[in-house]
Amino acid sequence: MSDSRVYNFAAGPSVLPLSVLERAGLEITNYRGSGMSVMEMSHRSKVFMDIFQDTRDKLRRLMNVPEGYHILFLQTGASGQFSMIPLNLISKTGKADYAVTGNFSGLACKEAKKYGDISTACDTSDRNHSYIPRQEELKLNLDASYFYYCANNTIYGTEWDYIPETGDVTLVCDMSSDILTMPVDVSRFGIIYAGAQKNLAPAGLTVVIIKDGLQGHELPYTPLMMNYKTMIDKDSMYNTPPCWCVYMLGLMLDWVEENGGPEGMEKLKQQRSGMLYDTLDSSRLFTCHAEQGSRSGMNVTFRTASEELDAKFVREATEAGFVNLKGHRMTGGMRASIYNAMPVEAVEKLCDFIRAFEKAN
Ligand SMILES: Cc1ncc(COP(=O)(O)O)c(C=O)c1O
Repeated sequence: MSDSRVYNFAAGPSVLPLSVLERAGLEITNYRGSGMSVMEMSHRSKVFMDIFQDTRDKLRRLMNVPEGYHILFLQTGASGQFSMIPLNLISKTGKADYAVTGNFSGLACKEAKKYGDISTACDTSDRNHSYIPRQEELKLNLDASYFYYCANNTIYGTEWDYIPETGDVTLVCDMSSDILTMPVDVSRFGIIYAGAQKNLAPAGLTVVIIKDGLQGHELPYTPLMMNYKTMIDKDSMYNTPPCWCVYMLGLMLDWVEENGGPEGMEKLKQQRSGMLYDTLDSSRLFTCHAEQGSRSGMNVTFRTASEELDAKFVREATEAGFVNLKGHRMTGGMRASIYNAMPVEAVEKLCDFIRAFEKAN
């Protein structure tokens, strides 16, 4: 790690591998002999089209995306998908099921209610979103156009450890904070989407993986830019795509591949989160927000019994080079976001810091 770099536990935008940043730095003014930066290129130029297609092919290979699925690189932000999904999918029956297990699925559910008859398949707000329901607790409607859930709840630090079984109902998943952190059977889903700014790339890119045939059923007033069919027909290039972020995604995917692909990422995820939860569980000062069995491998939420002590922890951690550990206001306490690019060594050092803090307090 470069001397002046901190251990950045931000929830997103978040840490990228140093080698990825350095490679981008080397190529920043002259991309591989083109005489210009990727930021300065026409998105229709051959050199950029090669980057674009190569990045998409790498993602398809790494995530094992089957034939019959499109990969889109959009600018909507993950939040844009909260609207785009109902606008494009709800016309099937006018109904949809939403699992509300945190802030972002709650926002998506609220947005969808503008467009159709939405049922709540579960709502974990009764225990401040500290758990994920079991399959048998989900209220499913056979005539739903789709079932929507968020695989990892970034703010509350919970993660689904199973893919819901919804029969013939199309499965739609927000994987913004755990995409590419483990192997996933894409064929189970109608749509997987993710804002890139946690595990994939800088902010500004939204990746959508969509099964062919789901496009073309949009509500009549769907804006052109929110129509999956527009973006599929124009290969994500109806307008200017987020060129720089796509390039950065390509570099990040090379790094993921060099580090063992999704299987390698899953091992690292278990190593990092296992170490951190063990440290917190064996302490008498700290407790975790997420219940056992629902804990996220990406966002670890914890606290002491006092807000003053939490503030002291965050302050002293920052001084020691562990930054962005303050929890979201909805949960309070602390949150350590430990995405793919977070070195295991950083989590080891954070665990040492936690133990030392406990001893001193
Ligand atoms: C799981 C999840 N979904 C959606 C969003 C919203 O993302 P964006 O800011 O790209 O709209 C976030 C942001 O942190 C998130 O964590």
